[in-house]
Amino acid sequence: LSNGLALTPPMGWNSWNHFGCNVTEKIVKETADALVSTGLSKLGYKYVNIDDCWAELTRDTKGNFVPKKTTFPSGIKALADYVHSKGLKIGIYSDAGYYTCSKKMPGSLGHEERDAKTFASWGIDYLKYDNCNNDGSKPTIRYPVMTRALMKSGRPIFFSLCEWGDMHPAKWGYQVGNSWRTTNDISDNWESMVSRADMNEIYADLAKPGGWNDPDMLEVGNGGMSKKEYIVHFSIWAISKAPLLIGCNLRNVTKETMEIIGNGEVIAVNQDPLGIQAKKVRMEGDWEVWSGPLTNYMVALLLVNRGSVRASITAHWDDIGIPANSIVEARDLWEHKNLKQKFVQNLTATIGSHASKMYVLKPIG
Ligand code: GLA
Repeated sequence: LSNGLALTPPMGWNSWNHFGCNVTEKIVKETADALVSTGLSKLGYKYVNIDDCWAELTRDTKGNFVPKKTTFPSGIKALADYVHSKGLKIGIYSDAGYYTCSKKMPGSLGHEERDAKTFASWGIDYLKYDNCNNDGSKPTIRYPVMTRALMKSGRPIFFSLCEWGDMHPAKWGYQVGNSWRTTNDISDNWESMVSRADMNEIYADLAKPGGWNDPDMLEVGNGGMSKKEYIVHFSIWAISKAPLLIGCNLRNVTKETMEIIGNGEVIAVNQDPLGIQAKKVRMEGDWEVWSGPLTNYMVALLLVNRGSVRASITAHWDDIGIPANSIVEARDLWEHKNLKQKFVQNLTATIGSHASKMYVLKPIG
């Protein structure tokens, strides 16, 4: 969507994966504080996004949303002011149906202009728009109504389409929003994570600055996967130019989680201005080679071992668009060092089960 936003994939936090319907203004405020105190905001994590369950089940007599009194007693405007005072941006959630997915609050179907105006008046910067409990008409009918309402609201608002990939939103989403879910919901386990990655990869050609494929939010830090598996998760999301929306409890984030979501070199691949989503360029059994171009003739490379035994995985220059005789320097983005060896024709690494290696390759002659 041409609203001047999302020139690189959005980065931030969302309440759903960890807190579900238990989100409160206290949690949102403390998360904003944590984004600043951990240094994550400096790395680019700017959006603090409230997901489902922030409103009362019924609108007020004028038809406006009412923030839930027990959990958001100060209202959303005050919360937005607080988040903005930290140099961050705030996101909210609604649904292109009568009720949201939790059925605990109303949706925006038939109230698009009113709600867009409300969000703009509160200072909202990002809207995630879900698809539950709708009237049975196609998302391609209902979502653009909110696009137009946001455009009339007088405020640039990032528009995140959440129709779970049902109607191939990658094919029409660029005119409607800034990101579109290509999958149904992620859960905090390896199988769920890699299958989301696969479904999202199909649409790689359709992502570009202004509109991104969204394989759902990060589970890093929620405890269901090993550290190596979370590194694979974060690496695939980064190289796939996916939104990097942290989904854990940041108020007591561990060192291990920080090492993953705080890896500035991996984030730089995600935020590279070229904005080209990586693809799987070779698969052999459980071994995968993902790559995509970066600015300045560099290439991002990710080797993934999805199997249960250690494997030696090779990336060939002809699969990744590097001229045959180029001599290539490689930087390991998780070891944070340049490899001593220079590479010609290919690069091979030995990788354990459910693990990965991620590099930036630089042809030097
Ligand atoms: C749907 C979405 C999730 C989350 C929940 C909230 O399942 O896909 O990301 O927003 O609704 O109820």
